[in-house]
Parts: sequence; C-alpha cells; structure tokens
Amino acid sequence: MRNHSLLLWVLLFVDGVFCADEVSVSVMKGDSVTLHTNLTELQSGDTIDWMSEDGVIIAKIENKKISEKYVPERRFKGRLELDSQNGSLTIRNITAEHKGLYILDISGGNLQSKRFNVTIRVVLVVFYYQRKLRLERQRRDRNL
Ligand SMILES: *[C@@H]1O[C@H](CO)[C@@H](O)[C@H](O)[C@H]1NC(C)=O
Ligand SMILES: *[C@@H]1O[C@H](CO)[C@@H](O)[C@H](O)[C@H]1NC(C)=O
Ligand SMILES: *[C@@H]1O[C@H](CO)[C@@H](O)[C@H](O)[C@H]1NC(C)=O
Ligand SMILES: *[C@@H]1O[C@H](CO)[C@@H](O)[C@H](O)[C@H]1NC(C)=O
Repeated sequence: MRNHSLLLWVLLFVDGVFCADEVSVSVMKGDSVTLHTNLTELQSGDTIDWMSEDGVIIAKIENKKISEKYVPERRFKGRLELDSQNGSLTIRNITAEHKGLYILDISGGNLQSKRFNVTIRVVLVVFYYQRKLRLERQRRDRNL
C-alpha cells in the first residue's frame, strides 16, 4: 500500500514536471505566431529567457529591457519580436524550420517555466480535396 502511494506520487511528480505546462500552438506556414507569457506586466527584477529546443537563448529581457547580447541563430533572423511590456515572443513568417519546442523561463517575481510546442499546420491536403470535389461537381453538373 505504501509502495503504491509512493509510486503514484512519483508518477504525478514526473507528469507535472514534463507535461503540465506545455502549450500546443499550431501555425500555418507564412503566418505569425505569438507565444504568450500571459503576464500583463513584467516586474523590474524579472528575467525572461526564450530558448529553442536545444536550450539556446534566442531572446532575453532583463529589467524590462530587451537584451541585445543574444543574437538569434540564422533561422530566426529578422523574424523575432519581443514585447518589452509583457515578454511575449512573436515569430513572423513561420516556416518548417521553426517548428518544435520553445522554452520560456521567467525568473524573479514572476517565477515560472513553460514549454510551447509549435507545429506547422498543413492546409494543402484540404485544398487539394476541395479542388477535386469542385471539379467533380462541375463535371457532374455538365453531364446532367
Ligand atoms: C495563456 O492563457 C490562455 C487563455 O487562458 C491559455 O489558453 C494558455 O494556455 C495560457 N498560456 C500559458 C503559457 O500559460
Ligand atoms: C502581450 O504582448 C503581445 C504582443 O504585443 C500582445 O499580443 C498581448 O495581447 C499582450 N498580452 C497581455 C496579457 O497583455
Ligand atoms: C517568408 O520566408 C520565406 C522563406 O524564408 C521567404 O522566402 C519569404 O520571402 C518570407 N516572406 C516574407 C513576407 O517575409
Ligand atoms: C508536439 O506536438 C506534436 C503534434 O501534436 C507531437 O507529435 C510531438 O510529440 C510534440 N512534441 C513534444 C516535445 O511534446
């Protein structure tokens, strides 16, 4: 009995660490996406780190100022926009290169960590079938 509750506790703990704060975001190619910190305002002691899947910092805010020290890698060049008021990160013109995990670390008064799983939505298949259906309907109408 005791062992079971311990196991349950461990499972809940592991689950909490790895799954609880993951936000799924689905974006269409070419669109912009904003990853929200859900904060209305940063506190002066807050440090915001935005990291890509491999743990590399791609954007940072310290004491309400956007740090210029972190030059994002090539695939993010000219695409990132940080909101210095609330720390949200916008990625513009999403391509397949930008899918994956993004990690948000907020330390200071608003201590928290979140993961965003960005996936690229494919609409080509839907368009293909819509077109196919339309052509079939036109053909049917003509034959009537
Ligand atoms: C932010 O808030 C929205 C709406 O309440 C919620 O769907 C989303 O998961 C939240 N995001 C984070 C990172 O907590
Ligand atoms: C944070 O900033 C982003 C980008 O400017 C904006 O879209 C969003 O509504 C803001 N969120 C809050 C909670 O103020
Ligand atoms: C979006 O990214 C693609 C691929 O990098 C590029 O060819 C295109 O010019 C970009 N579009 C805009 C509006 O920036
Ligand atoms: C991200 O979401 C996709 C699609 O739902 C899923 O296949 C993938 O395993 C997720 N990745 C992580 C690290 O959670």
